[in-house]
Amino acid sequence: MEKIGLAWWKKALVYQIYPLSFKDSNGDGYGDLKGIVSKLDYLKDLGVDVIWLSPVYQSPMDDNGYDISDYDAIDPIFGTLEDMNNLIHETHQKKMRIIMDLVVNHTSDEHIWFKEALKSKDNPKRDYYIWADEPSDIGSVFGGSAWEYSSITNQYYFHLFSKKQPDLNWDNPELRNEIYAMINRWLNKGIDGFRLDVIDLIGKDVKNKQLSDGPYLIERLQEMNDRCFKHRDIMTVGEMPGISIEKAREFTSQKNPLLSMIFQFAHVGLDEVPGQGKWMLKKLDLLEFKEVFESLQTKLYQKGWNSLFLANHDQPRAVSRYGNLAYRKESAKMLSTVLYGMQGTPYVYQGEEIGMTGVQFKDIHQYKDIETINIYNIMKNQGFSEEMIMESIYAKGRDNSRTPFQWDDKKNAGFSTGKPWLDVNPNYIDINAAFDVKDPSGVFQYFKKLFSIRKKYDVFHEGNFIPFMKNHPELFGYYRFYGDEKVLVIGSFSNQSLEIAIPDQIQECLITNDSRVKVGNKMTIPPYYTCILKIGDELHAND
Ligand code: GLC
Repeated sequence: MEKIGLAWWKKALVYQIYPLSFKDSNGDGYGDLKGIVSKLDYLKDLGVDVIWLSPVYQSPMDDNGYDISDYDAIDPIFGTLEDMNNLIHETHQKKMRIIMDLVVNHTSDEHIWFKEALKSKDNPKRDYYIWADEPSDIGSVFGGSAWEYSSITNQYYFHLFSKKQPDLNWDNPELRNEIYAMINRWLNKGIDGFRLDVIDLIGKDVKNKQLSDGPYLIERLQEMNDRCFKHRDIMTVGEMPGISIEKAREFTSQKNPLLSMIFQFAHVGLDEVPGQGKWMLKKLDLLEFKEVFESLQTKLYQKGWNSLFLANHDQPRAVSRYGNLAYRKESAKMLSTVLYGMQGTPYVYQGEEIGMTGVQFKDIHQYKDIETINIYNIMKNQGFSEEMIMESIYAKGRDNSRTPFQWDDKKNAGFSTGKPWLDVNPNYIDINAAFDVKDPSGVFQYFKKLFSIRKKYDVFHEGNFIPFMKNHPELFGYYRFYGDEKVLVIGSFSNQSLEIAIPDQIQECLITNDSRVKVGNKMTIPPYYTCILKIGDELHAND
């Protein structure tokens, strides 16, 4: 029994592995399961408690594994079922846990169910998918129409992502039974939970164009929870790009949690022109950014549970997006401090812990992501200049975070002895794990210290959240209070020095990215400075 009675996943550090790009053990240029096993000690050293594995199931890889053709098989690129069992075993041996990605909004068009469904209107699997005589105007997330014509039966099938990812029909009870049985088969193998891909879509009503957060979402989540999750000691995190903070609170409510936590995306759309999609760029306004986090922190406090993340395999690298590459290490540390000082379960995306950056390939042919390639063609047809398109791709393209992990400064950054499936970021010579881990001022050692501090003080898990200098346009600060434990977290988003006044009695500086700065009630802080201060009783929180 833990001292403060929190579920294990509330205090856990989760590390996301994008298997294609993590570590290749056999020289074919693709990361694999044996490669992951060879790096478990590295993860353990960082303080990782849970590994989240992006999909490794059998897949034609149209969307890098998010298009599954057999839920019960491992794709040969990654290894075998035995390798997967071994990874589960080895992870547990090292006292870590492992969760898998669950992609059940859609399958691959090469899944046997879809192959059957295509054959005829009265095929038993036909109703596992969504069909219409005429397409509606719903667009695919990856561009173009969400409907694809099939001449065999003269109907269209629905696919919110690529046309090789037909959406499953969750209205069909037999389909739901098959999915629940599959989930239980994996859980019975001993995995510790799931990250549920775009799970806000499974309650949709396509006819009435209600997609995310559809009319049946709660009942579907409830049923899945009853049939698969409720009686097990696992964690579940639902990816829900389209739901509100209020809904995130409801789904993770302390009384009747349907999921352990949600990935909520309110903070990641703030560098986009509202309503115009992710490619139309807008400068981030820190005041908006802070407001979203304050809202998440305060609305879920004691009611639901947050997940803390800035980056993943769909989002650009945090340090390139929110930090400043002229201050790479400083801003990587600052971002992690303000993020992980908050309440919620922290997620680190592979490479974040060594300050890996986004990439700017010259040639569109170097890009592999289906979404990036589609948007390139669409914007070209719409008459955008090459320069403007590439600027959007540099800022937002998903391959930014999918380039191979930079293990060392040797060939292919030590990722593979063969030709990597996606080019390595050329900056691996300077930015790599071998170098960073040994550097006392490196990002890795800072992350490690930050997570050990987080584990030591209950205030990070249980404390409330009160903004500090709320209206400052370049400083992100907040207090956390829990009983006698009080901390102030500060991070500068400025490339200039800032003057700040701290009205509290400062007891101790728990961590900082610049120990040369004298901590006190009046401080001049350098660009991208960060610290966590333990403070005393006399408190005059200001804004
Ligand atoms: C999720 C995944 C993304 C994938 C999409 C379709 O958003 O994170 O990588 O393309 O779902 O499965």
